[in-house]
Amino acid sequence: MKFYGKYPSLRLRRNRKSSWARRLVEENNISVNDLILPIFVTEGKNKIEEIKTMPGIYRYSIDKINNIVNKASKVKIPLVAIFPNTPKSKKDIIGSEALNENNLVCRAIRKIKKNNPEIGVMADVALDPYTSHGHDGVINKKQVLNDETIKILSKQAILQAEMGCDVIAPSDMMDGRVGIIRKSLDKNNHKDVQILSYSAKYASSFYGPFRNAIGSKQKNKINKKTYQMNYRNSEEAIREVALDIKEGADFVMIKPGLPYLDIIKSVKDNFKIPVFVYQVSGEYSMIKNGIKTGILDDESIIESLISFKRSGASAIVTYFALDIAKKI
Ligand code: PBG
Repeated sequence: MKFYGKYPSLRLRRNRKSSWARRLVEENNISVNDLILPIFVTEGKNKIEEIKTMPGIYRYSIDKINNIVNKASKVKIPLVAIFPNTPKSKKDIIGSEALNENNLVCRAIRKIKKNNPEIGVMADVALDPYTSHGHDGVINKKQVLNDETIKILSKQAILQAEMGCDVIAPSDMMDGRVGIIRKSLDKNNHKDVQILSYSAKYASSFYGPFRNAIGSKQKNKINKKTYQMNYRNSEEAIREVALDIKEGADFVMIKPGLPYLDIIKSVKDNFKIPVFVYQVSGEYSMIKNGIKTGILDDESIIESLISFKRSGASAIVTYFALDIAKKI
């Protein structure tokens, strides 16, 4: 790196002397086009219930999702992501409900595409909202089975695409799932459906509040370390991303966000493709609680989101999307 000039003729504070001067030299910023809003859906009628572990975030019954989707559309958020709180009675060991065309996600997609065709809809492909054990795949003798699972996932992807889903997001971390999903989508005439692969998804403690939100939390802490990544590794993330691009991913996601800024940066440096990041539930709840108790102020939200932009992210899945879209 070459340095130009030195103190006292050079004073870097000069470019920070006033708001206008600072704005003039800003290197990174965030716009509403960068935001993806997660929406939780639940059974029943006329329900908007706050999630205890995620203050300010609600589960909506299908008849009420217009409320939040209209708000997202009004501020021009490009994409919403649907997550179902499947009732316990509909969960089983193989996650059959994932393939029910009247499950919560399918009904939500149909409704949103009908009422708000201007907004993109994304849905996860993974079994954890539907399995009684909370794992992202089918299990046999405590093993999460890879090849059996991805066959089901490809059917889940086709079903969601048939409902009108625009972006299919495999969040399960099985090997080979992007390839089989791309092939199945193409074979079934869904060539324009995009795949957002959760390529580097780490086995993280920061998913706690989310598992509570979709009711997949188990009595004993669930261990997903045989498929989600070890947080001690970074080169492995590059291999995961390389594979997913080869298999047909349109964009890739890094998850969680704040503890993994280095991964976003190195993926972006290595591959010239859109990199997304998921600011997960635990990150949301930490910041939200900090603000609620007066330890942090509101600006901490923007600061966390800009750090993703600085590290190279194109778009951010964040529970703050609506709040922030209104402010920027
Ligand atoms: C499920 C899934 C998870 C999240 C998104 N999709 C949790 C998990 O893998 O256990 C986490 C999101 C969040 O914490 O906000 N495959």
